[in-house]
Amino acid sequence: MTVSRRALLFSAAPALALANSAKVFRYAEVEAKIAKKDFRGITKDDLPTPCLTVERALFEKNLKAMSDYCKSTGINLRAHCKIHKSTDVTRKQIALGSLGVCCATIAEAELMVNAGFKNVLHTCQPAGKNKVWRAAVLAQREPTTMFVADDPITVDLLDQAAEALKIKMTVLPDIYAGLTRHGHAPGDPGLKLAQKIDSSKNLKLGGIMGYSGGASHTKGWEARREKSTKDVVPMVETAKLLKKSGLNVPIITGGSTGTYNIDKALGLTELQAGSYIFMDTAYMNIGSREGTERYSDFDVSMNVLTTVISANHTGQVTIDAGNKALLRPTDRVKNRPEVIVENQGAEYGILKWNDGNGFKLGEKVELITTNLDMTTNCYDRYYVCEGQNVVDVWPIMGRAGALQR
Ligand SMILES: Cc1ncc(COP(=O)(O)O)c(C=O)c1O
Repeated sequence: MTVSRRALLFSAAPALALANSAKVFRYAEVEAKIAKKDFRGITKDDLPTPCLTVERALFEKNLKAMSDYCKSTGINLRAHCKIHKSTDVTRKQIALGSLGVCCATIAEAELMVNAGFKNVLHTCQPAGKNKVWRAAVLAQREPTTMFVADDPITVDLLDQAAEALKIKMTVLPDIYAGLTRHGHAPGDPGLKLAQKIDSSKNLKLGGIMGYSGGASHTKGWEARREKSTKDVVPMVETAKLLKKSGLNVPIITGGSTGTYNIDKALGLTELQAGSYIFMDTAYMNIGSREGTERYSDFDVSMNVLTTVISANHTGQVTIDAGNKALLRPTDRVKNRPEVIVENQGAEYGILKWNDGNGFKLGEKVELITTNLDMTTNCYDRYYVCEGQNVVDVWPIMGRAGALQR
């Protein structure tokens, strides 16, 4: 079959017209602008997906809500950075009253000290040669850095390292508060551990810690209060024993986003809350003090931005976030609670719906992640947005390889 030149031109016309009228988009130019901190004109549509977006207004609202609560009730906050791994976020938390920053790993503590932060509390005891010595060297560089110990062996090792460096290290006994992953027994054994720290030549007792991870996600505020009471009170009673025996206990620390409005009454002097800044689906339905099923104290301010990359089947589309992006069936689609999320391999996820509108090829879809710590650890930056517009970019640091060990 011969096709006339005119017919060929006619059939190609719409595509040619689109190509001729489209404004050329070069992603490299977006990156160049970001490097210069010039975010003008950059929108969510320009971003490489999957990526993390933070809605600035909601993030700031969360920061302020926690800060206001702490100021009005008289409990301190030393916010946990394991959630965000961002010095930009830590800076904003400190500007609103956070006493310093809590870190889960020695690498996070080094990151925060390197960025110039003081009053860092490493909430997991350093164990083994590498971590013990890095802790001591960090304390030498920044003497306000604090460490915890749940074992007399750790106390001895820290004391020896401090002796060799001719420094004094601040150490808190980490007391069991319901999580078997860590914590020394409360009561007399806890007192003995604190006395050992206090009497160690090169250590200073910094207070006491007890983290109840089990309470943080207990559903229903009353049930959560009961669980936190059961877990935390033995640690607080241990703090009283310490004081009675003449020890100085400047800090009683623990708590979380889920128990922030419970633990002051139990006797904590400061909170280690972290997730409140962004929120995830694990926290969304733990229930509020007011009795609502949804935990509305803080808003979801961070999302995984994805793109629909295939739409060939009824009632489902494929998105570009899969196992590598830690997609989980418990993730949710922002503003579309009825949509089901499924994994479909390393780079693919599936969104399914029964009725209502679907999603179009190329459309951006924002997910609410199940677990913040794990998700943020997969990405290198937060794109801070006001609606569709990108207004800032904050690096996520210390996430991979040697940097996070
Ligand atoms: C020791 C410790 N403190 C505080 C937190 C912060 O808890 P959340 O993010 O639930 O506020 C965590 C989180 O896992 C933690 O491990």
